[in-house]
Amino acid sequence: MTGKRILLIIGGGIAAYKACELIRLLRKRGHTVRCVLTAGGAHFVTPMTLAALSEQPVHTSLWELKDEIEMGHIELSRQADLVVVCPATADLLAKMAAGIADDLATTLLLATDKPVLAVPAMNVRMWLHATTRRNVETLRGDGVTVMAPDEGAMACGEFGPGRLPEPEAIVGAIETALTPSPFVLSDIEGRAANAAPATGTSTSLSANGGLIGKHVLVTAGPTHEPIDPVRYIANRSSGKQGFAIAAALAVRGARVTLVAGPVALATPPGVDRVDVETAREMAAAVDAALPADAAVLVAAVADWHVEAAGLKIKKAGAPPALALVENPDILATLSHSPRRPRLVVGFAAETNDVVAHAQAKLARKGCDWIVANDVSGARGQSVMGGADNAIHLVTADGVETWPTLPKIEVAERLADRIADALTEPA
Ligand SMILES: Cc1cc2nc3c(=O)[nH]c(=O)nc-3n(C[C@H](O)[C@H](O)[C@H](O)COP(=O)(O)O)c2cc1C
Repeated sequence: MTGKRILLIIGGGIAAYKACELIRLLRKRGHTVRCVLTAGGAHFVTPMTLAALSEQPVHTSLWELKDEIEMGHIELSRQADLVVVCPATADLLAKMAAGIADDLATTLLLATDKPVLAVPAMNVRMWLHATTRRNVETLRGDGVTVMAPDEGAMACGEFGPGRLPEPEAIVGAIETALTPSPFVLSDIEGRAANAAPATGTSTSLSANGGLIGKHVLVTAGPTHEPIDPVRYIANRSSGKQGFAIAAALAVRGARVTLVAGPVALATPPGVDRVDVETAREMAAAVDAALPADAAVLVAAVADWHVEAAGLKIKKAGAPPALALVENPDILATLSHSPRRPRLVVGFAAETNDVVAHAQAKLARKGCDWIVANDVSGARGQSVMGGADNAIHLVTADGVETWPTLPKIEVAERLADRIADALTEPA
């Protein structure tokens, strides 16, 4: 990745000197860095140092007439691809969480329509203080990416979490924040991350802020139901459609909790992932993730589990009879829960009478939409594990049949529909 524009806000922490190294590394990778220095930050590094390293003007005041005429402060925050706060002091995190805009840095942070990455650094007690914990939680809920600080010996002589991560790690986080989920796209489209995009497929997720401030819960993948410590019952779900939906929701600004069954997929940037194995674990993880504004239950959850044996079943005599026990119905439970998300979307994988079964499922489960797909294809051509999906969106208003699309495009369309539904008056 190269040629991105980064607005770097440097707060008043002892780690401010590391921002100098960060600028150097980012420029070496071809990015442009423009610095904003807080009054606190100016006690630790000088505008001259930052200007020399960035070869750009450095901005320090909201009230600088010359700066304001040359480029209004709102424009400064909008011209960037990413706003990075490094070091993010406890004070800056608190102001960001509260929406305080009393200097150039905080005003830019409130005015920006670009993604924000905060890299905290502070004394361990400040980091662990209930107020800072609350502020970080609020910011993450608002769609700000807050890096976890490193743990170790601190300048103040204490030990614990609070150190600024190494500049190389920050560069990695910056480039991840600037990358539109390449692994999901490549995985879904079946090609290497840096290969040329296949003709006719979408190459990047389209970012917009339609879901900022919303929490969306997504489940994806299969479940594994143990028979004994080495064997399990599974299904052919790959998790690709659910992961693509999680990625598409995240780039629209949602806070996404992705409850994933056993799959070989990387986590989309900005998504909180909870790995589970069985349907019962998935049900518990879904419950623990509430409250949410919407839930999209894509996972192919096993209907039954086995009373698993504690030891490996030995091959001796007649084959063992497996007694199947019904699993919790996650979709129906969530749809009837007192903590029901405003929008509950279920998926239905059917091999025949797809729409009729989906309509019956919508009524039976009590959800708002069913995304139905035909999984009857032969192995290798099936939707399960494949790159494309042809779906019917079944709602109380009727049935929409979408053309066959790459899973990422199904995800994009569905994420847009979810954003529309959540912004309609309740
Ligand atoms: C020597 C010294 C080191 C400091 N280091 C930090 C720090 O690492 N992290 C932090 O959050 N605050 C630190 N502070 C406190 C901040 O400088 C103070 O809260 C200031 O108001 C932050 O301003 P700003 O958030 O506008 O940059 C330090 C203060 C001093 C005097």
